[in-house]
Amino acid sequence: MLSILKFGAPELKKPSAPVEEFNGQLRHLVDEMVETMYAARGIGLAAPQVGVNLRLVIVDISRGREPEQLMVIANPEIVSTEGQQSEEEGCLSLPDFSGSVPRPWRVRVRGLNPRGDEFYVEGEGLLARAFCHEIDHVNGTLFIDRLSGLKRDLIKRKIRKLISAGRW
Ligand code: NI
Repeated sequence: MLSILKFGAPELKKPSAPVEEFNGQLRHLVDEMVETMYAARGIGLAAPQVGVNLRLVIVDISRGREPEQLMVIANPEIVSTEGQQSEEEGCLSLPDFSGSVPRPWRVRVRGLNPRGDEFYVEGEGLLARAFCHEIDHVNGTLFIDRLSGLKRDLIKRKIRKLISAGRW
């Protein structure tokens, strides 16, 4: 099991490098990320959240209930968007915090599977949000970076208190 970095870790702010080697090591990392995401009851996880500087994300909005919903995307890119939504969003790197984040309603994503084959996938609603959220991670962006300054400062203040209380 991998440990998930929390807000404040410099790895979360750094844009990740493209995946270039599609080998057993990558597939092992994917397996560990999947196990870690399910254990944390998340619907998505990006490699930088486990301290790995790679453009690699996994998403499963069924939280493991429907294994065919698991998507592993290396070098993900949003190629088109449609509409908009604004819903409460959380993050495994910011446990117990959430905020309403504007996102497109539908997105089309291009990426590579763990064997290096290109594919396209579309998602709407929650799935579209999950894609956008995880792709943000590989660009060094967290959902709180997309909140209003006021809301973001409030969350940061609470986190600073948790840090000084040794509870973060
Ligand atoms: Ni997140």
